[in-house]
Amino acid sequence: MIKKVITADGSPTFFSEEYGEPYHSVTAGAFRESKEKFINPCKVIESLKNGDLKILDVCFGLGFNSMSAVKAALECGGRLLIIGFEKNIDVIKASLKLDWGSMSAFKIFLRGLLRSRSFEDGFLTLNYFDGKIGIKIFIGEGRKVIKRIYRNFQNFFDVVFHDPFSPKVNPELWTFEFFRYISELVKEDGILATYSSSLPVRKALLMAGFGVREGVAVGRKSKSTVAVKGAETVLPDNLKRKLERSIFSIPYRDPCLRDPPALIRNRRSGCIRILKSAYPFECWY
Ligand SMILES: C[S@@+](CC[C@H](N)C(=O)[O-])C[C@H]1O[C@@H](n2cnc3c(N)ncnc32)[C@H](O)[C@@H]1O
Repeated sequence: MIKKVITADGSPTFFSEEYGEPYHSVTAGAFRESKEKFINPCKVIESLKNGDLKILDVCFGLGFNSMSAVKAALECGGRLLIIGFEKNIDVIKASLKLDWGSMSAFKIFLRGLLRSRSFEDGFLTLNYFDGKIGIKIFIGEGRKVIKRIYRNFQNFFDVVFHDPFSPKVNPELWTFEFFRYISELVKEDGILATYSSSLPVRKALLMAGFGVREGVAVGRKSKSTVAVKGAETVLPDNLKRKLERSIFSIPYRDPCLRDPPALIRNRRSGCIRILKSAYPFECWY
């Protein structure tokens, strides 16, 4: 079940009863979040001004992050290719029924995607291609999609928009193993942006070969995360220490990329419990 919500900047989003979370930050605003947490930190506009850009959209959802990139490409002149996945095609269809306000002109790309369907690598795909903009969305479970397609896209993407629901409710897309696959797909110096600043997420990114930096805080106190493949980690000393030493930085693990979310969550909390009881006098930060 999805319910419509109006966010702080007047743009609409949905609330997911299944995950108990909105699809975008209600306090930041859905369109503002796309721009400030994904487009700006990933340097989308700068890259498009210099030429082509290839984006991996992890969780296409209502399509707002991708459509913000399309808007940037049409304004800047560069060529844009977006490959993404989404498990629920109904969310994409329902997005078209919302009032996108100043972004309404971009619904044409979503309509184009829904009109041009094919079957590739075992998945339904939605496709949009003109001379300048290319979009392909795989409809399916993200881990299965990534495992199936990663050989075709090694060292391919400049940018990743990483936008699942939060790690607590959607842990399967925040594990070390998932980020390791993503890291294979991204070029050296490629940028991944995500709204989460949580320790297990940053630790998993670090282990997967990304350098981790703080992103902006939009509509809440905690900052987001910008990860750059192969780069140094640049964080304040206290955060670096926590990332290195705190048991709360133990990442989510999913060895074969197919465990159910509850098992992934329990595996991590079990590790934390065991460590705490084995070393009760340790200062764990
Ligand atoms: C926070 S919303 C994404 C919002 C989107 N980036 C946008 O700009 O509108 C998360 C999306 O992830 C999808 N999702 C969650 N878990 C998934 C999984 N394991 N595989 C594929 N899609 C998933 C949900 O259906 C939902 O549409």
